[in-house]
Amino acid sequence: MGIISNLSRPGLPSSHTSPPSSSSSPSASNKRKCSILMPSVVALVVIAEISFLGRLDMAKNAAFFDSLPEMFYKSHSPGGFDGEKFAIEALGGGQNLVKESCEEWLEREDALTYSRDFAKDPIWVSGADQEWKTCDLVYCAQWNRLRTISRIILLRHDGGGGYDIVMTTSLSSDVPVGYFSWAEYDIMAPVMPKTEKAHAAAFISNCGARNFRLEALVGLEKANIKIDSYGSCHRNRNGNVDKVEALKRYKFSLAFENSNEEDYVTEKFFQSLVAGTIPVVVGAPNIEDFAPSPDSFLHIKELEDVPSVANRIKYLSKNPVAYNQSLRWKYEGPSDSFKALVDMAAVHSSCRLCIHLATIIQEKEEKSSIFKKRPCKCTRGSETVYHIYVRERGRFKMDSIFLRSGNLTLEALEAAALTKFKSLKHMPVWKPERPESIRGGDELKVYRIYPVGLTQRQALYSFKFKGDSDIRSHIENNPCPKFEVIFV
Ligand SMILES: *[C@@H]1O[C@H](CO)[C@@H](O)[C@H](O)[C@H]1NC(C)=O
Ligand SMILES: *[C@@H]1O[C@H](CO)[C@@H](O)[C@H](O)[C@H]1NC(C)=O
Repeated sequence: MGIISNLSRPGLPSSHTSPPSSSSSPSASNKRKCSILMPSVVALVVIAEISFLGRLDMAKNAAFFDSLPEMFYKSHSPGGFDGEKFAIEALGGGQNLVKESCEEWLEREDALTYSRDFAKDPIWVSGADQEWKTCDLVYCAQWNRLRTISRIILLRHDGGGGYDIVMTTSLSSDVPVGYFSWAEYDIMAPVMPKTEKAHAAAFISNCGARNFRLEALVGLEKANIKIDSYGSCHRNRNGNVDKVEALKRYKFSLAFENSNEEDYVTEKFFQSLVAGTIPVVVGAPNIEDFAPSPDSFLHIKELEDVPSVANRIKYLSKNPVAYNQSLRWKYEGPSDSFKALVDMAAVHSSCRLCIHLATIIQEKEEKSSIFKKRPCKCTRGSETVYHIYVRERGRFKMDSIFLRSGNLTLEALEAAALTKFKSLKHMPVWKPERPESIRGGDELKVYRIYPVGLTQRQALYSFKFKGDSDIRSHIENNPCPKFEVIFV
C-alpha cells in the first residue's frame, strides 16, 4: 500500500461557516460522498515536523501511472491538410457548397477521444489509501466549499522510492496546500479601534523554534516595544481569550513563525490580517507575496532588522494617518496579486489534485502517435490558423481558441481567451468564495495566462513570456498548446 501523509493542524478550525450556498451547492448525497473523500478522515501518517518540507519538495516526479488502459480513439482522417480542398458537403447534394473555415476544421480534426471520459470516469489514485482512492472531476466541480486541515499529502507509487505527487505549503509543489482561503479567514472584517496600551500582542506558544524568533522578541522588548504576551512564551497576559478578537484591539501583532521557509505562512499572519492589525513577521523570506498590500506588514528578515522595525512600530503608533495608510487595503481591497493567490484555494486541494492527475494522464496520452497526427494548425494562402486550448486555473475542461499567424502576440492571446470566456458567460471559479466587497462585477479580468503545467510559484510570480517572439515560438513549437488563465 502506498502512503498518504498528512500534517494535521490541530490549531485550525475544522469546519467553517460559509455564506448561504446558491444552487451550486452539493446535494445531500454528494455531501455524503464528499465526506467519504475528505482526506481528514483517512487514516494517515502524521508528520509533525515542518522541517520535512524542504526535502520533500525535491523528491518527486517519477512515472506515476503503471499503464494506461487500452486507448480508444475516434476515427481520424490521417495525413495532412490541404485547406483549399476542404469543403463541407454537410448541407447535402443540391445545396450550396459551404466552405468550412479553418477553425471549424481544426475543432473537428483535433478533437480526439481519450481513453477515458474525464467528465465521467473517476481517476483511481494509485498508491492512495482505500478511502481516498478516486477523484472525480464532475464531483469536484460542485465541491469547492469543503475544507480540510491537511497540509501535506504525498502520493507514492507502490514500492517506489520517491514521491510522485507532492502537496505542501510550497507554491512550487505539485499541488500547493496553503494555510489561506477566503472561507477560513474573514479577511475583509472591519478594523476596530485600537484600545490597548501595548504596541503589540503576541501569541507564541513555544519559545523554541528553528529560527531567531525568540531573539527577535527579546530584541523588541529591549527596544521598548510594549508587548502583551498571551502565549506561554514570555506570558504576561491571561491566554484564555479569543485570539482574533484580542488582536483587533492592538496596532501590531507578532506573527513569528517557527521556521523561515519560503511560502510557509500560517494562521499567525492571516489572523492578523483578519483582525486589522499590522503583522510584524519573522518567517517566510517571501512574505510580501502573501501580503494584501506592500505596506501592510513589517518584516524582520534578520536579527539586525530589529532596531529599525522597532522604530517603525513607534513611529506608526504615534502617527494615526500613517498607521491608517498601512491598513488602507482594508478599505480599498487587497492587491490583485493577493486575490490571485488566495483565489487558488477556492478550489479544494483534493480537487486540484484531481485536476493535476487528469492533466498528467491526458498529456501522457497526447504523446501517442495518433495524437501527434492532429493537425493543430491550418494554412490557407499566406495565413496559418493555430488551434490553442485555454482553461481557467482550478478547472479541468479546456476550450478552443484560434490565433492567426499575422497576430501571434500575447495581446492577441489574451484577447482571444477573454472573448471566448465572455461568449461562454464564464463565471470565475472563485466567485462564490471571495468576500462580496471585493468580488467585483461581471467583467472578466485576465491576471495571468501561462502554459499548463507550471507551478503556482512560476505562474503567479516568475513566469513571463519574453515578448511576442517568445510566444510565437511557444505556439509554433507546441502543437495545440494549452494555457491556463487566472482571472482577478
Ligand atoms: C482610515 O482611512 C479610511 C479611509 O481610507 C477611513 O474611512 C477611516 O475612517 C480611517 N480611520 C481612521 C481611524 O482614521
Ligand atoms: C491582433 O490582435 C489584437 C488583439 O485582439 C487586435 O487588437 C489587433 O487588431 C490584431 N491585429 C491584427 C493585425 O489583426
